[in-house]
Amino acid sequence: MNKPLTILLKEKEIQERVRFLATQISNDYKNCELILIGVLTGAYMFMADMSRGITISVNIDFLGVTSYGTNHKSSGIVRIIADINLEITGKDVLLVEDICDTGLTLNYLKKNLELRKPNSLRICTLLDKPSQRQIDIKTDYTGFIIPDQFVVGYGMDYAEQYRNLPYIAILDSSS
Ligand code: IMP
Ligand code: MG
Repeated sequence: MNKPLTILLKEKEIQERVRFLATQISNDYKNCELILIGVLTGAYMFMADMSRGITISVNIDFLGVTSYGTNHKSSGIVRIIADINLEITGKDVLLVEDICDTGLTLNYLKKNLELRKPNSLRICTLLDKPSQRQIDIKTDYTGFIIPDQFVVGYGMDYAEQYRNLPYIAILDSSS
């Protein structure tokens, strides 16, 4: 059943910010062999929009993860269920994520990808909820810093719903 939603970030605001990040990334990675790696499923919409704003040539890949946890809180036990197809050794890699909450997922993925010896590895997250951080992880590109509330839309879900919304909303879980 659909729960009440309160809009946090409007479609236009998101699009403007995503374009800004794409321009910044295009400038920072001039003359690089950039590979964008999106974390499924939440980052699919962000990746689609951001990559369209990137003006340098890039390769695009995705990986799928599951994390065991309750109440949508990550346990930190992350498992890659679908690995990337591209070889990243010696390449410049930008990991593209929907939201950094505890930071445990990105920390795990960063360590895992570093083992494959990319030339560089940075993190781009659309949303950052710093109040929930359990581990010190640096994100290199951030769309929006948001308060500690559960959000849906623009790729993000609650029980696999709401991913297709073009905006980001706070889900009222009390009802
Ligand atoms: P972390 O390991 O706690 O940083 O969790 C990151 C993952 O938890 C994200 O990739 C999301 O899939 C999920 N997540 C955390 N907060 C939210 C939220 O507010 N809405 C939807 N998914 C969330
Ligand atoms: Mg995610």
